[in-house]
Amino acid sequence: MEKTFKRTTVTSALPYANGPVHIGHLAGVYVPADIYVRYLRLKGEEVLFVGGSDEHGVPVTQRARKEGITPQDVVDRYHNIIKESFREFGISFDVYSRTTSDVHHRFASDFFRKLYDEGKLVEQSTKQFYDEKTEKFLTDRDVVGECPYCHKQAYGNQCEEGCGRALEPTELINPRSKETGETPVLRETKNWYLPLNEYQQWLKEWILESHKEWRPNVYGQCKSWLDMDLQPRAMTRDLDWGIPVPVEGADGKVLYVWFDAPIGYISNTKELCDNEPEKWGSWEKWWQNEDTRLLHFIGKDNIVFHCIIFPTMMKAHGGYVMPDNVPSNEFLNLEDDKISTSRNWAVWLHEYLVDFPGKQDVLRYVLTANAPETKDNNFTWRDFQARNNNELVAVYGNFVNRALVLTHKYFDGKVPACGELIDYDKATIAEFINVKAEVEKLLDTFKFREAQKEAMNLARIGNKYLADTEPWKLAKTDMGRVGTILNLSLQLAANLAIAFEPFLPFSSEKLRGMLGMESFEWEQLGCTDLLAAGHQLGKAELLFEKIDDSAIDAQMQRLEEIKKANEAASYRANPVKPTVSFEDWEKLDIRVGTVLECERVPKMKKLLKFKIADGIADRTIVSGIAEHYAPEELVGKQVLFIANFAPRQFKNGLVSEGMILSAENYDGSLAVTSLLREVKPGSEVK
Ligand code: MF3
Ligand code: ZN
Repeated sequence: MEKTFKRTTVTSALPYANGPVHIGHLAGVYVPADIYVRYLRLKGEEVLFVGGSDEHGVPVTQRARKEGITPQDVVDRYHNIIKESFREFGISFDVYSRTTSDVHHRFASDFFRKLYDEGKLVEQSTKQFYDEKTEKFLTDRDVVGECPYCHKQAYGNQCEEGCGRALEPTELINPRSKETGETPVLRETKNWYLPLNEYQQWLKEWILESHKEWRPNVYGQCKSWLDMDLQPRAMTRDLDWGIPVPVEGADGKVLYVWFDAPIGYISNTKELCDNEPEKWGSWEKWWQNEDTRLLHFIGKDNIVFHCIIFPTMMKAHGGYVMPDNVPSNEFLNLEDDKISTSRNWAVWLHEYLVDFPGKQDVLRYVLTANAPETKDNNFTWRDFQARNNNELVAVYGNFVNRALVLTHKYFDGKVPACGELIDYDKATIAEFINVKAEVEKLLDTFKFREAQKEAMNLARIGNKYLADTEPWKLAKTDMGRVGTILNLSLQLAANLAIAFEPFLPFSSEKLRGMLGMESFEWEQLGCTDLLAAGHQLGKAELLFEKIDDSAIDAQMQRLEEIKKANEAASYRANPVKPTVSFEDWEKLDIRVGTVLECERVPKMKKLLKFKIADGIADRTIVSGIAEHYAPEELVGKQVLFIANFAPRQFKNGLVSEGMILSAENYDGSLAVTSLLREVKPGSEVK
């Protein structure tokens, strides 16, 4: 049975304050959350929209180290930049605070202490790498070394460059501290763990049984976690940036950033409620009341934290409501390449506004039109231009402008009376009256992309209506009819202002001014009496402007330059290795193989398993290229492989008999080598 709620708490992932925000953040989390919240507010529902900066964690300390400043300097700088970007793009948070605030420190500390006092945490000693030079414990990612499976350079938590396996730092061959290059030593350290395993059954029932309606990507990720045995997870770390662990003998330890950050949603709510209790009531109302519906808007890399870890924390603590849904998006690419802060491959919000001042809604529109709701999606500047020129300008803006300009021309800007309706008018009304129900249905199920399309349909209907009825031709003969047509058109324009408010708030505000509308409610959508006859309209202005080629070319040029710089940096980072003799070269036996079969390897998301015809027999080769090729793309192709490479065994028993050669592009993408002409399998490469 559907539960009915009295109010909604909407959270959006707290961005790390270690850099500015880009279009990927906006598209994935903040625009959809904002659309949803604005929609609820227009409906007159009780809603709270929580945001804030995530200011602890390793990413912040890394940035500080790189720039030679303190972590506090880093977060002070970026918290303000990020907050300002969100404000400028109309992301309408009710509160935007930070996890370095006093309120938050106390709140997170108390939360931990309650779990600790009630024996909900498990104390465990482990041996961890310690850098004697800096006198610090090393996080898993601070340790680098050789992967024991594929022998590439790997981080202590994962072999990213090679086979993709999850690793323990102690498994690395020849481990070193990433910062100092020192060989670390193992030291015993005590930490406190959240026993996720004890909650597994409850999680399974709560998610897998009762939330089948969650998006398939979210549900699927949860299922694959819950199908494995969950392990206790450390909630404290040996670091010096974070919230001190409020337990005796825990000096030099802080709360795990993924413990404290989601609590930031709650502490930020508390801060707001303490400041304005008359308006917001108590924070408990928003987090601990059964009538409150909790929603988390996040990106896909945050799913496990919001669906498994944070709910378990709240369950262990007691008193909290569980999230009712976790609308999570996939990733947005930029011009077919992964957005990357370190490679500067991004459109930064503060930079966009310099190049396209006043065009916040254009970006909001394009990001929603391409929202990565069910799969990764792509942002391109050409598409940005096309959607602006062909949709916002040619459809929405054009319709509104014609309706207003004609009314100013023929009726001095006063809404004309509506005369008798002909069948065509009635058919048009019938068409747009459905839009409300349609948009609602889509927004209620978090399908923002389609909902916006449906809103745009209103403008298409209006454009067609004006084009078909041609009031400018009737002006000499039948002003009564012209009045009716314009009355209906203006009603439609008023509907557009309402329907687009959640999506394009700046344009709706402008249109509302032009139409001289006072009130603005979702309930009015679909009505044809929003503007009374005789009502005075404001001045007609353009809602949107064309974006010309030169502006787009400039953006493409900028990206081109970044790409070149990245390429150059990658070549510099990979100098040619020392000379080898002919004899050495001859030791390698490189051959041509024909791919007979190719498939993914369960639970190893980077690996593909090949069956290759090598001229004599078939052999199995495992290669870490699953993120760059679909298996079917490679079947039937000829590839180059090292035939005398020592066989390697993977943990799951799989043995790889050779190595397929690939070229690594400057951006880390891999291209399998092949031949310009077909040859017999087994042919030697010399
Ligand atoms: N800072 C995290 C990220 O950018 C998100 C934190 S969400 C919160 O991936 F729940 F922890 F706040
Ligand atoms: Zn590896």
